Amino acid sequence: MAVLRFPDTSEIIENEPAIRVALSGLGIDYERWDLDRLPPDSSADAVLAAYADEIAAMKQRGGYVTADVIDVNPTTPNLDAMLARFDKEHTHDEDEVRFILAGRGIFFLHLNGRVAAVEVGPGDLLRVPRGTTHWFTLCEDRRIRAIRWFQETSGWTPHYTGSGLDGNYQPLCFGPAYLGPRVTTPFALDQNA
Ligand SMILES: [Fe+2]
Repeated sequence: MAVLRFPDTSEIIENEPAIRVALSGLGIDYERWDLDRLPPDSSADAVLAAYADEIAAMKQRGGYVTADVIDVNPTTPNLDAMLARFDKEHTHDEDEVRFILAGRGIFFLHLNGRVAAVEVGPGDLLRVPRGTTHWFTLCEDRRIRAIRWFQETSGWTPHYTGSGLDGNYQPLCFGPAYLGPRVTTPFALDQNA
Protein backbone atom coordinates (compact mmCIF):
# COMPACT_ATOMS: atom_id res chain seq x y z
CA MET A 1 0.00 0.00 0.00
CA ALA A 2 1.36 3.36 -1.03
CA VAL A 3 1.74 6.51 1.05
CA LEU A 4 1.48 9.85 -0.75
CA ARG A 5 3.12 12.85 0.89
CA PHE A 6 3.57 16.46 -0.10
CA PRO A 7 6.66 17.24 2.02
CA ASP A 8 6.42 21.02 1.54
CA THR A 9 3.09 21.11 3.36
CA SER A 10 3.38 17.90 5.44
CA GLU A 11 0.16 16.64 3.82
CA ILE A 12 -0.09 12.81 3.91
CA ILE A 13 -2.62 10.65 2.04
CA GLU A 14 -2.77 6.96 2.97
CA ASN A 15 -6.19 6.05 1.58
CA GLU A 16 -5.95 4.10 -1.69
CA PRO A 17 -8.82 5.76 -3.62
CA ALA A 18 -7.67 9.20 -2.45
CA ILE A 19 -4.09 8.46 -3.57
CA ARG A 20 -5.39 7.34 -6.97
CA VAL A 21 -7.45 10.52 -7.40
CA ALA A 22 -4.65 12.83 -6.25
CA LEU A 23 -2.05 11.20 -8.51
CA SER A 24 -4.45 11.03 -11.45
CA GLY A 25 -4.87 14.78 -11.15
CA LEU A 26 -1.10 15.04 -11.57
CA GLY A 27 -1.08 12.78 -14.64
CA ILE A 28 0.28 9.75 -12.75
CA ASP A 29 -1.47 6.37 -12.91
CA TYR A 30 -1.65 4.46 -9.64
CA GLU A 31 -3.21 1.01 -9.29
CA ARG A 32 -3.25 -1.91 -6.86
CA TRP A 33 -2.72 -5.41 -8.24
CA ASP A 34 -3.10 -8.65 -6.29
CA LEU A 35 0.00 -10.51 -5.11
CA ASP A 36 -1.51 -13.78 -3.95
CA ARG A 37 -1.24 -15.72 -7.20
CA LEU A 38 2.29 -17.01 -6.56
CA PRO A 39 4.76 -17.39 -3.66
CA PRO A 40 6.93 -14.32 -2.95
CA ASP A 41 10.16 -16.22 -3.70
CA SER A 42 9.06 -17.23 -7.22
CA SER A 43 11.53 -16.89 -10.08
CA ALA A 44 11.40 -13.96 -12.48
CA ASP A 45 10.12 -16.25 -15.23
CA ALA A 46 7.33 -17.51 -12.94
CA VAL A 47 6.36 -13.92 -12.12
CA LEU A 48 6.26 -12.91 -15.78
CA ALA A 49 4.16 -15.99 -16.56
CA ALA A 50 1.75 -15.40 -13.67
CA TYR A 51 1.10 -11.79 -14.76
CA ALA A 52 1.28 -12.49 -18.52
CA ASP A 53 -2.23 -11.15 -19.21
CA GLU A 54 -1.70 -7.91 -17.25
CA ILE A 55 1.77 -7.45 -18.75
CA ALA A 56 0.35 -7.82 -22.27
CA ALA A 57 -2.50 -5.41 -21.51
CA MET A 58 -0.08 -2.84 -20.13
CA LYS A 59 2.14 -3.19 -23.20
CA GLN A 60 -0.83 -2.41 -25.41
CA ARG A 61 -1.94 0.49 -23.20
CA GLY A 62 1.43 2.26 -23.22
CA GLY A 63 3.16 0.97 -26.35
CA TYR A 64 5.68 -0.96 -24.27
CA VAL A 65 7.61 -3.70 -26.07
CA THR A 66 9.37 -5.53 -23.24
CA ALA A 67 8.91 -6.30 -19.55
CA ASP A 68 11.30 -7.76 -17.01
CA VAL A 69 11.73 -8.26 -13.26
CA ILE A 70 14.30 -6.19 -11.39
CA ASP A 71 15.47 -7.50 -8.04
CA VAL A 72 17.59 -5.31 -5.78
CA ASN A 73 18.67 -6.09 -2.23
CA PRO A 74 21.52 -5.13 0.11
CA THR A 75 23.79 -7.81 -1.43
CA THR A 76 23.34 -6.52 -4.99
CA PRO A 77 26.82 -5.69 -6.38
CA ASN A 78 27.50 -1.95 -6.74
CA LEU A 79 24.15 -1.14 -5.11
CA ASP A 80 25.23 2.33 -3.98
CA ALA A 81 26.46 3.24 -7.46
CA MET A 82 23.21 1.93 -8.95
CA LEU A 83 21.06 3.92 -6.54
CA ALA A 84 23.17 7.05 -7.06
CA ARG A 85 22.11 7.04 -10.74
CA PHE A 86 18.49 7.55 -9.79
CA ASP A 87 18.44 9.59 -6.58
CA LYS A 88 19.16 12.87 -8.43
CA GLU A 89 16.38 14.70 -10.23
CA HIS A 90 16.09 13.41 -13.80
CA THR A 91 13.75 12.63 -16.67
CA HIS A 92 13.53 9.76 -19.14
CA ASP A 93 12.52 9.62 -22.79
CA GLU A 94 10.01 6.92 -21.91
CA ASP A 95 7.51 6.11 -19.19
CA GLU A 96 8.74 4.60 -15.91
CA VAL A 97 6.28 1.82 -15.11
CA ARG A 98 6.74 -0.32 -12.03
CA PHE A 99 4.63 -2.99 -10.32
CA ILE A 100 6.17 -3.60 -6.91
CA LEU A 101 6.42 -7.25 -5.88
CA ALA A 102 8.54 -6.79 -2.73
CA GLY A 103 10.39 -4.07 -0.84
CA ARG A 104 9.64 -0.36 -0.67
CA GLY A 105 10.91 2.84 -2.22
CA ILE A 106 9.98 6.47 -2.80
CA PHE A 107 9.32 8.17 -6.11
CA PHE A 108 9.77 11.91 -5.66
CA LEU A 109 7.76 13.54 -8.46
CA HIS A 110 8.36 17.21 -9.24
CA LEU A 111 5.13 18.36 -10.84
CA ASN A 112 3.72 21.84 -11.38
CA GLY A 113 6.31 23.34 -9.04
CA ARG A 114 5.42 20.96 -6.23
CA VAL A 115 7.11 17.77 -4.99
CA ALA A 116 4.97 14.68 -4.34
CA ALA A 117 6.65 11.76 -2.55
CA VAL A 118 4.99 8.46 -3.47
CA GLU A 119 6.16 5.65 -1.23
CA VAL A 120 5.38 2.40 -3.02
CA GLY A 121 5.25 -1.12 -1.59
CA PRO A 122 4.11 -4.62 -2.55
CA GLY A 123 1.02 -4.58 -4.80
CA ASP A 124 1.46 -0.98 -5.95
CA LEU A 125 1.69 -0.10 -9.64
CA LEU A 126 2.90 3.34 -10.68
CA ARG A 127 3.11 4.76 -14.20
CA VAL A 128 5.25 7.91 -14.46
CA PRO A 129 4.95 9.49 -17.93
CA ARG A 130 8.03 10.24 -19.99
CA GLY A 131 9.48 13.67 -19.34
CA THR A 132 8.30 13.81 -15.70
CA THR A 133 11.03 15.24 -13.46
CA HIS A 134 11.57 12.78 -10.61
CA TRP A 135 14.06 10.85 -8.48
CA PHE A 136 13.89 7.55 -6.59
CA THR A 137 15.26 6.18 -3.33
CA LEU A 138 14.91 2.87 -1.52
CA CYS A 139 13.63 2.56 2.04
CA GLU A 140 15.77 1.44 4.96
CA ASP A 141 15.78 -2.25 4.01
CA ARG A 142 17.28 -1.36 0.60
CA ARG A 143 15.09 -3.90 -1.14
CA ILE A 144 12.87 -3.68 -4.19
CA ARG A 145 11.54 -6.26 -6.60
CA ALA A 146 9.37 -5.06 -9.44
CA ILE A 147 8.05 -5.74 -12.92
CA ARG A 148 9.22 -3.02 -15.34
CA TRP A 149 7.89 -2.17 -18.79
CA PHE A 150 9.92 -0.50 -21.53
CA GLN A 151 9.10 1.24 -24.79
CA GLU A 152 12.75 0.67 -25.69
CA THR A 153 15.37 -0.09 -23.10
CA SER A 154 17.69 2.73 -24.25
CA GLY A 155 14.96 5.25 -23.39
CA TRP A 156 15.43 4.63 -19.69
CA THR A 157 18.74 6.52 -19.59
CA PRO A 158 18.39 9.31 -16.99
CA HIS A 159 18.71 12.93 -18.15
CA TYR A 160 19.75 14.90 -15.09
CA THR A 161 18.25 18.32 -14.47
CA GLY A 162 21.05 19.36 -12.10
CA SER A 163 18.48 21.27 -10.02
CA GLY A 164 19.81 19.99 -6.70
CA LEU A 165 16.20 19.85 -5.51
CA ASP A 166 16.64 16.21 -4.49
CA GLY A 167 19.04 17.33 -1.75
CA ASN A 168 16.23 19.22 -0.01
CA TYR A 169 14.05 16.16 0.70
CA GLN A 170 14.68 13.44 3.26
CA PRO A 171 14.15 9.90 1.92
CA LEU A 172 11.92 9.01 4.88
CA CYS A 173 9.67 5.99 4.51
CA PHE A 174 6.41 5.73 6.46
CA GLY A 175 5.20 2.29 5.40
CA PRO A 176 5.42 -1.03 7.27
CA ALA A 177 9.24 -0.91 7.39
CA TYR A 178 9.11 2.35 9.34
CA LEU A 179 9.61 1.59 13.02
CA GLY A 180 9.59 5.13 14.32
CA PRO A 181 12.18 6.59 16.66
CA ARG A 182 14.36 3.96 18.27
CA VAL A 183 13.74 3.60 22.01
CA THR A 184 16.52 2.11 24.09
CA THR A 185 15.46 0.34 27.25
CA PRO A 186 17.49 0.83 30.45
CA PHE A 187 17.58 -2.92 31.10
CA ALA A 188 18.28 -6.00 28.98
CA LEU A 189 15.30 -7.88 27.57
CA ASP A 190 15.42 -11.67 27.57
CA GLN A 191 14.85 -12.45 23.87
CA ASN A 192 14.11 -16.11 24.68
CA ALA A 193 11.43 -15.47 27.25
FE1 LIG B 1 13.74 7.44 -13.20
